[in-house]
Amino acid sequence: MTGEPVLSAAGVSVWFPVGSRLGARLRNQQRLLHAVDGVDLDLRRGEALALVGESGSGKSTFALALAGLRPVDGGTIRFDGRVLPRRRSRADLRRIQMVFQDPYSSLNPRMTVGGMLRELVRVHHVVPSSECDDYIRELVRLVGLGDDALRAQPRQFSGGQRQRIAIARALALRPDVLVADEPVSALDVSVQATILNLLADLRAELGLSLLLISHNLAVVRHLCDRVAVMYLGRIVEVAPTEQIFSDPQHPYTRGLLAAIPKITDSATEFAADGGPAVAGDMPSALRIPAGCRFRTRCPLAREICAQTDPGLVAGPDGAVHQAACHFAFDSVTARVPRQRDGEE
Ligand SMILES: Nc1ncnc2c1ncn2[C@@H]1O[C@H](COP(=O)(O)OP(=O)(O)OP(=O)(O)O)[C@@H](O)[C@H]1O
Ligand code: SF4
Ligand SMILES: [Mg+2]
Repeated sequence: MTGEPVLSAAGVSVWFPVGSRLGARLRNQQRLLHAVDGVDLDLRRGEALALVGESGSGKSTFALALAGLRPVDGGTIRFDGRVLPRRRSRADLRRIQMVFQDPYSSLNPRMTVGGMLRELVRVHHVVPSSECDDYIRELVRLVGLGDDALRAQPRQFSGGQRQRIAIARALALRPDVLVADEPVSALDVSVQATILNLLADLRAELGLSLLLISHNLAVVRHLCDRVAVMYLGRIVEVAPTEQIFSDPQHPYTRGLLAAIPKITDSATEFAADGGPAVAGDMPSALRIPAGCRFRTRCPLAREICAQTDPGLVAGPDGAVHQAACHFAFDSVTARVPRQRDGEE
């Protein structure tokens, strides 16, 4: 890992207009759901970065924006330092590939695996056509399948095998970055580890940078170099994995970690069912609280939290550990419980 960012988001926002058009016209205003609301995040070359947060925090929308599959409404995305245009070229789209939770969604059910891969490789001119057959045979072997897989259709495979094919499809375009959005959560527990190990092996073998979205903290801890925590459309903490687990700075991160044993006995997952990991509900992305967006659920909230948006600040170790809290990196102040009204 060089530490150089391969993919950088700066102030990236994605909004969804909601409600009927008629309603919007009658009220003379458009309601916008701020699914991703000013995200700053770097993915470094060769690293595995985890993106975690409760259901609805904006992880998938952000991932789609990074991959160029959803337009951004604000901010910039850079690849190797170059700003990617709103409409990406085919070459730029190739560089960032996604693996989805449901492998079936990214596979054409009517084509054989070989036909699908061959078409992809030809359309994108990945290798000369004389090398195409060897190339796709190599691809399916790379993901642990035999040559006979090339003659079958996706429905003929198990869930785990289908995810292997989806990974082969993503790798066919020789991407620099793989964005995996909960790649194993729809699979049998018995095959989850094999797919995750495959991703880890491929990353090492091919020098890929990996953004892994997962609710499973054991997986995150095992596979990822760094962790970014997302809350209500914004990154609220990012740090090397062990620092997130041993010295979380944001009250939301602490809440997620503290809630683990209450939610599962395995102490490895939070809110895997999309349920709350921290007391209270996440506010709607239609009405993001002013000041610190976590203040409505934060046990440490004070007056300043309603007035000023803290923004991501770096700790004493430089930019390695960052948190968006007025009281981060201040071990005394940050852990003082919130005063009740009327208390000194
Ligand atoms: N196509 C859409 N139209 C309107 N709102 C959307 C759309 N897609 C997502 N949203 C909203 O954007 C917010 C972020 O959703 P997103 O799916 O990105 O969250 P997530 O963190 O991936 O959640 P999960 O962990 O459940 O996958 C949510 O409020 C969601 O309801
Ligand atoms: S800024 Fe205030 S409300 Fe926000 S996380 Fe920190 S203490 Fe809590
Ligand atoms: Mg999602």
